Amino acid sequence: MSTVELVSLSKSYGQTLALAPTSLKVEEGEFFALLGPSGCGKSTTLRMIAGFVRPSGGEVLIGGSDVTRQPPERRGSGIVFQNYAIFPHMNVYDNIAFGLRMRKRPAEEIDRRVRAALDQVGLSGFERRFQREMSGGEQQRVALARVLITEPRILLLDEPLSALDKKLREEMKYWIKELQRQLRITTIYVTHDQGEALTMSDRIAVMNGGRVIQVGTPRDIYERPVDRFVTEFIGESNILDARVGGEAGDGMCLLAIGPFAATAPRRAGMSTGRAVALVVRPERVLVGVDAEHAGGNLLRARVQSHTYQGSFIRYRLDLAGQTIVAEAPNRTEGAALDDGTEITIGWRPEGTSILPD
Ligand SMILES: Nc1ncnc2c1ncn2[C@@H]1O[C@H](COP(=O)(O)OP(=O)(O)O)[C@@H](O)[C@H]1O
Ligand SMILES: [Mg+2]
Repeated sequence: MSTVELVSLSKSYGQTLALAPTSLKVEEGEFFALLGPSGCGKSTTLRMIAGFVRPSGGEVLIGGSDVTRQPPERRGSGIVFQNYAIFPHMNVYDNIAFGLRMRKRPAEEIDRRVRAALDQVGLSGFERRFQREMSGGEQQRVALARVLITEPRILLLDEPLSALDKKLREEMKYWIKELQRQLRITTIYVTHDQGEALTMSDRIAVMNGGRVIQVGTPRDIYERPVDRFVTEFIGESNILDARVGGEAGDGMCLLAIGPFAATAPRRAGMSTGRAVALVVRPERVLVGVDAEHAGGNLLRARVQSHTYQGSFIRYRLDLAGQTIVAEAPNRTEGAALDDGTEITIGWRPEGTSILPD
């Protein structure tokens, strides 16, 4: 187990800035995700930590010591890539034994450790199988066993589930998280999938255009996104135009949304009359509520359209000329509101946030 620290780490490829100078620290045993759209610099960052890409500037520290000039094999990191890094001409046993054979370990030690690694990833009995005789998920578990057998200090995973179908991805993400929890190995997990990052991570670094925009727990990132990019990238949001109407006490402020009044958590430097953007998540919008349940915010809206989604109904509503999406739990059959219906909607003020400039 080890910490991983980036100190002003950066990388440029000619004119392309793949990573602007970045400093962050991953704690021992932490599950840390690098999350962002394709091309934002996630793989470059991970490869600099592993030692496959030479930084343009800055340092990488593993377990407190500077490894910036160390080759990959001296860093004690294990890396798993998106495309199964297993040899097709070797069976599972030989694939997993490969790293230890290269290190010329005695045969009985190799045997004991291969069996332990297979057991760890739940593939005992798969020793004689070849790549073509396994599902994508099983192949990724072999890839993980191949890495774990070397007893790395840190585990680096680059979009390990992106080649799998949706259902398998769901299963594997809980499985990887559980394995990581058992091993308590410091893990850096690269993904463009916000759902994966939210469910698996202790903390997430959200990246865009070669920069880390926000670092925080899944809850911080979802509830208090620092800007419009993070708000729109993580989950779905309504971003409503509003105007500051004054202070409301208890850390709240008054807002005007068209002809309606609402309260929201205040931000520093919000003068009366200023235009702001209010973030309201679709699942926080209560459709057809009374004052008590809305916690004070009551507005009138009209149903523009709705779609039946099984466990919930998704509405597009017109709110004084702005469109707002709401997801209402499907509590009783036939409860969906017809298009054109005028209704009262609301939300609890503490479940919303105002975007900074
Ligand atoms: N070997 C390379 N040579 C030139 N440009 C590269 C190289 N690797 C990555 N890039 C560029 O650096 C940026 C970040 O790439 P990458 O780290 O792979 O992003 P991500 O993993 O987030 O999709 C992209 O603009 C990409 O085109
Ligand atoms: Mg990548």
